[in-house]
Amino acid sequence: MLTVLISLGLMTSTSARCVRPPSPEHPNILILMIDDLGYGDIASYGHPTQEYTEVDRMAAEGTRFTQAYSADSMCSPSRAGFMTGRLPIRLGVVGGRRVFLPYDIGGLPKEETTMAEMLKQAGYVTGMVGKWHLGINEKNSSDGAHLPSRRGFDFVGVNLPFTNVWQCDTNREFYNDEPDTSMCFLYDGDEIVQQPMQFEHMTENLMHDWKRFLKARIREDQHERPFFFYFSFPQVHSTQFASKKFRGTSVRGIYGDSINEMSWAVGQVLDSLIDNGIAQNTLVILMSDHGPHVELCLNGGSTAGLKGGKSNSYEGGFRIPFIAWQPGTVRAGRVSHEVLSSMDLYKTFRDIQKCPFDGKPQLPLDGTNILQELQGDSKEDAGYLGERRPIIYYCNSHLMAIRLGNYKIHYKTSPIFLNSTVDPQLDILCPNGKPKKDWYVSQWCPEESLKKHSPPLVFDLIRDPYELYPLQNNDETNRVRLKATDILIEHKHSLVPVPNQLGKFDKKLTPCCNPPDCRCDKLNRPRQSMKPKFHYNLIPPMESTSELELMERLL
Ligand SMILES: *[C@@H]1O[C@H](CO)[C@@H](O)[C@H](O)[C@H]1NC(C)=O
Ligand SMILES: *[C@@H]1O[C@H](CO)[C@@H](O)[C@H](O)[C@H]1NC(C)=O
Repeated sequence: MLTVLISLGLMTSTSARCVRPPSPEHPNILILMIDDLGYGDIASYGHPTQEYTEVDRMAAEGTRFTQAYSADSMCSPSRAGFMTGRLPIRLGVVGGRRVFLPYDIGGLPKEETTMAEMLKQAGYVTGMVGKWHLGINEKNSSDGAHLPSRRGFDFVGVNLPFTNVWQCDTNREFYNDEPDTSMCFLYDGDEIVQQPMQFEHMTENLMHDWKRFLKARIREDQHERPFFFYFSFPQVHSTQFASKKFRGTSVRGIYGDSINEMSWAVGQVLDSLIDNGIAQNTLVILMSDHGPHVELCLNGGSTAGLKGGKSNSYEGGFRIPFIAWQPGTVRAGRVSHEVLSSMDLYKTFRDIQKCPFDGKPQLPLDGTNILQELQGDSKEDAGYLGERRPIIYYCNSHLMAIRLGNYKIHYKTSPIFLNSTVDPQLDILCPNGKPKKDWYVSQWCPEESLKKHSPPLVFDLIRDPYELYPLQNNDETNRVRLKATDILIEHKHSLVPVPNQLGKFDKKLTPCCNPPDCRCDKLNRPRQSMKPKFHYNLIPPMESTSELELMERLL
């Protein structure tokens, strides 16, 4: 007991001593995580018909990255990697269905330090709303052992501890049955408040809780302590949804409507920072958790022609839209071709802290400090393209591929849904624009479905980002393969065996509101009426407009 008290005392004095107030160099950190948003889904990443939205405004006011990668091509492992700065294989977030189901016993292991836990130790006030998907319960249907409040978040607003799935379609547009209550539930903090969840006021409610957090920060000690906020959108995962105000706003249909609603929220968040005079002290990152779910056809998003999509190891699965915004620090209107990973953020945020970290030892990280890349001071213009860091692609526990500089080496590949970007045969694959039964072609990569390549395929991603033309075997490709082998042998040596977190099920863990009904709606009214300002399509996408002109129009 005494030891506990002493160490707590030490921790308090440590943080009190070294906590720094928010400043441009030591900013508040806000992550806007979009679910399943494809590399090619927004106008500034080249989508020809998606409306110009607040996300594009964010890109015009900040830096847009063209070669950013997720930690994995499925939700749970990708988010686990982002949250810890470590590859999912190190965390044991592999196995089972490759994502946490509502009745999985496992979760993000307690030995790991989450980004929220790390930043909290450094004096940040932490908060989150939206999708979690890193585990729920362990022993019964309400112990909440893996929820965000247990993983470093001081404030947890409205949240989806699981995710938004097609079985939650309340409009019966895609799913011709009642929503499946065992999959479709919403929490407020640690408490289940809506089952099945409703979408009409979802985005407003998330926004409301962000504003609640921000207001409290402004009122309290925002001049002393920075904040970390994780705004994790339920959009644009299936079931796509849009509130009445956003329905029919996109020529793309409900998928585009859903992007427009999400973008409205992004604009609200940026405006709230500006209105409160803290934009210059806040680093905002918008990114997707991985590629789009192309098997959903017209509701499946766009990779901008990159091969594959969610769940596989081609570029379409791992390459993500990634935008950084911090007026005065992150250069405006810039496009960066640096190679970076969502796992780099943990390492970067840790490195800017001055506090010594007590408590759990920091386990080996897979990320690289990318502060220079984020701020626009890197060497990219000197033809430097990511030599500093490899990107490693796993599917479940199979090592599939590695990117080294401009080259990508595939050891194994899994089948993909659309395998011709030239003629995707959508009419056969997606009769009437609707998905067929086999929604995932390669969700968990069973051994028998993998194709092994010997020698491994080598692509030049700068000349052939679509991975269409494997390079000939020659001295250069052999050199690249040898270098990759060296790096991967070292990588394999660094892996410590850990238990798999996915796939150990207990149906009794399924969250249930008002047992035994498993139905409730304690959020039936929006908690604060907010009239969305319609900002999307403010500026039509104009090829001839220079970034400067765009900025002038925006200001
Ligand atoms: C579930 O487990 C928690 C923590 O062990 C306990 O406090 C709670 O009473 C349990 N609930 C039920 C319904 O058994
Ligand atoms: C491409 O599609 C064809 C026909 O559906 C299939 O036989 C082939 O295996 C696919 N190729 C890949 C790489 O998935």
